[in-house]
Amino acid sequence: MGAFSGFYKKTIQERIELLKQERGINDGEAKVLLDSGALDLETANRMIENLVGVNHLPLGIAPGFRINGKEYAVPMCIEEPSVIAAAAKAAKLAAQSGGFTADADEPVMTGQVQLVNVPEDVLEKFNANKGEIAARAKELASGMEMYGGGYRECEAHTLETSRGRMLVAVFYVDVRDAMGANTLNTLLEGIAPLLEEKVAGEARLRILTNLAVRRKARAKCTWKKEVVGEDAIEGILDGYELAVNDIYRCCTHNKGIMNGVDAVAVATGNDWRAVEASAHAYAAMDGYTPLNKFYKNEDGDLVGEIELPLAVGTVGGAINTSPTAGIALKLLGAESAMELSMVMAAVGLAQNFAALYALGTEGIQKGHMKLHASNLAAGAGAKEGEIEKVAKKMQEQNEYSVESAKNILKKLRGE
Ligand code: HMG
Repeated sequence: MGAFSGFYKKTIQERIELLKQERGINDGEAKVLLDSGALDLETANRMIENLVGVNHLPLGIAPGFRINGKEYAVPMCIEEPSVIAAAAKAAKLAAQSGGFTADADEPVMTGQVQLVNVPEDVLEKFNANKGEIAARAKELASGMEMYGGGYRECEAHTLETSRGRMLVAVFYVDVRDAMGANTLNTLLEGIAPLLEEKVAGEARLRILTNLAVRRKARAKCTWKKEVVGEDAIEGILDGYELAVNDIYRCCTHNKGIMNGVDAVAVATGNDWRAVEASAHAYAAMDGYTPLNKFYKNEDGDLVGEIELPLAVGTVGGAINTSPTAGIALKLLGAESAMELSMVMAAVGLAQNFAALYALGTEGIQKGHMKLHASNLAAGAGAKEGEIEKVAKKMQEQNEYSVESAKNILKKLRGE
């Protein structure tokens, strides 16, 4: 982990100094971070409607991720204690085991045009005019060609529904480093009149699908038994098996993965609702299953693998308007949307590893509550200087509640 070793033991100021040295953060960017993000009301008012304020989320760093031989300090935006610590712990154990490998598909987004009131031979008509449809689609997505992307292909299928037969025309576009929603939706609205004219029916919905199955990322790590311990490996495998066999557990299992994935999406200004929707739809394609796998290899080491669609960008959208998203991307050092998606897959896998490690051994509450203790202390009314003392006492007593924090505080103040 080198320079980032003991990152969490440093003061905020020391962490920022380290980011300046190690990640090239300049004084202006450091000021934005220290000013709690500094999203001014005017900018915010352009981002959404009916603005009345700005809601802040903490931005932290999970250091120590080694992915394809490169070291990452991963920015994560999240309100929940212990998520970043858990990611850092899993990353550290992964690095001691050789690190993660990861890969990603080309960034190809998928969009649909729905045609209603279509005749029986609608598919034949689509196929007969496919050349012209493809040529128009290519023209409509030509803005992406200068970046190496652009239209890739199209296809169609019919659906027999309670409202009659429909044709769904599907378009695939390589959107390179963008999330791609605007490019796709512009193409879909632009091509719809041609479909009505040359194919049949009336165009209704013209919208991308968030189930970006041609834009998946994968990560893998083999955690060595000497590093993790055989008991912990058995605990992780038992926990994983419950998720495979029980949808109630599987939901929480995947939520744990998304703790990490979403936190990186939010930090980098990406559309986390799209990321969430696609992950769960993908998990449900053959009945709802875990997004990852754990198994033991012939040496008794723990192998973890994850695959999920990740439609994320490094340019456009909130990435350009949020003052911290650009800084987060700089800190991460991911040079493309594909690289960002690989990091997110590794973080999701790490997050689940850490949660299962804790759940399968000492339980989740000890680590979680240890980190939540200072929030409880503040909630009980402890002030600067008192918070740490109250949190420490709660840890000693292993009693975590606002009530117990209040009692400790009373004693501390001699009341
Ligand atoms: P630990 O082993 O007691 O910690 O774990 P440690 O003090 O021995 O430190 C080990 C490493 O953890 C450190 O290495 C750090 O990398 C990291 P070092 O740098 O010292 O060489 N670490 C920290 N990083 C940043 N800040 C800290 C910190 N402390 C340790 N303060 C830990 C403690 C909390 C990491 C562990 O208990 C853990 O991983 N727990 C799981 C927590 C978790 O998953 N939280 C998610 C929220 S709960 C939830 O929503 C999801 C869930 O329901 C999903 C599911 O059910 O699957 C759980």
